[in-house]
Amino acid sequence: RLLIIDFGSQVTQLIARRLRELNVYCEIHPFNKVDDAFLKSFAPKAVIFSGGPASVFADGAPMPPRGVFGLGVPILGICYGQQVMMHCLGGKVERGHGTAEFGRAYVTPTDATDPILAGWFADGREQVWMSHGDHVSEIAPGFAVYGTSPNAPFAITADTARHFYAVQFHPEVHHTPKGAKLYENFVKLAGFKGDWTMGAYREEAIRKIREQVGSEKVICGLSGGVDSSVAAVLIHEAIGDQLTCVFVDHGLLRLGEAEQVVSMFRDTYNIPLIHADESDLFLGALEGVSDPEVKRKTIGRLFIEVFEKHAKSIGGAKFLAQGTLYPDVIESVSFSGGPSVTIKSHHNVGGLPEKMGMKLVEPLRELFKDEVRALGRELGLPVPFIGRHPFPGPGLAIRCPGEITREKLDILRRADAVYIDQIRKHGLYDEIWQAFAAILPMKTVGVMGDGRTYDYALALRAVTSVDGMTADYYPFTHDFLGETATRIINEVQGVNRVFYDCTSKPPGTIELE
Ligand code: XMP
Repeated sequence: RLLIIDFGSQVTQLIARRLRELNVYCEIHPFNKVDDAFLKSFAPKAVIFSGGPASVFADGAPMPPRGVFGLGVPILGICYGQQVMMHCLGGKVERGHGTAEFGRAYVTPTDATDPILAGWFADGREQVWMSHGDHVSEIAPGFAVYGTSPNAPFAITADTARHFYAVQFHPEVHHTPKGAKLYENFVKLAGFKGDWTMGAYREEAIRKIREQVGSEKVICGLSGGVDSSVAAVLIHEAIGDQLTCVFVDHGLLRLGEAEQVVSMFRDTYNIPLIHADESDLFLGALEGVSDPEVKRKTIGRLFIEVFEKHAKSIGGAKFLAQGTLYPDVIESVSFSGGPSVTIKSHHNVGGLPEKMGMKLVEPLRELFKDEVRALGRELGLPVPFIGRHPFPGPGLAIRCPGEITREKLDILRRADAVYIDQIRKHGLYDEIWQAFAAILPMKTVGVMGDGRTYDYALALRAVTSVDGMTADYYPFTHDFLGETATRIINEVQGVNRVFYDCTSKPPGTIELE
């Protein structure tokens, strides 16, 4: 296995992702948790030093344990990792002073060639992504230069006898197009066969869950979404009926959703499940509320109350399981505050763990959405379920701007089902990040048959996105939009007008509230 020593870069997880794509098993450990004893027990076959925001000149600058250089295994240092390597091995690092480089740069090869650069420089130079203030000004003894850029004369350096490689740029980001090739060459050189799979991730995750939880009880909030479902199935495989799931039905779910989730977990997976039908409680509290923030806060508060009530009823769960993914986690290594790792996670049951004295079990913390889907497939979850679009915790409440009524929710549910059916029939579902209908807080006049109608207007939304942070509206054909509007108006009583939302994010958001 490969060890990534994290010096606090925002993109360390991308290194792990690139390695998983090469079917290599790796673990990320913060620099301040890695000492010589750890290295001995971990016994890495190769080590990568991540980038990081610090300067080797700072007091208490993050350093790897010296023993790492004596392990006799290949090491790759990236950005700050390069500077640290040079600093430790007898080279020199200088402060920025006009040579800082942020963004795109081009590296050209020197005379030297090395297998780690196989496949590089086909066009004489390679685009890379730089992000550094300090830079290496003198390489350590034994190192040679393999590539230079205008502001980084030591963009690619290596001591090929010891298999130490050090680059100033970030090969893990997309803006370094040949970055994946660099990792591929590095892991080949380190002797990895590339035979690690999602099946192996599953085994490893199960082992870790058992180790963490022991014989204690675990409770898991199910939302019906992919992430919490995959987490629940995985944890159930690890600890069986020590796990209880709670599915809080707030009355703001889509058509048939509660039934699907309950039957899947109870009947297919035999996972103990509390189906908390609390729609009266939630919809009662939301009566007359039209402010989006008040809606969200009300739902969040009630969710915690209900969850807490049911968690107590199962008697002393010490752990709370969540399907937190890597993009939900902002992890940074704390340089000033000693050895603590600050983790900020946001989720639908926020506030519970501290309040109830529970510890978190988050087996998907290292994964990206598409990897969670791959793990879901590995666990045998139904394919259509795995590919489902994200659905927000506050549910239909934030797709019903203005006051929420049962009548509006009922119309919205039926219209949304027709819209999604259309998208599936046209084979577009998997091209779209998220699609849904929203019911607008207005009625308009129409004519159907010979009569006047005065009914609700709907907005249809569909976006493409990589991570939900930015999004483009989906360019449906006019035929598709026309056919869908006609179907909705014909099949759903209470709607006589349909709009398509052509707003991207920014300036819009994906949800309407
Ligand atoms: P916005 O509307 O902020 O949404 O552009 C971005 C993504 O986040 C989802 N979303 C939520 N998910 N709880 C969730 O679990 C929430 O409160 C929440 N609000 C928005 C939204 O569906 C989209 O995928």
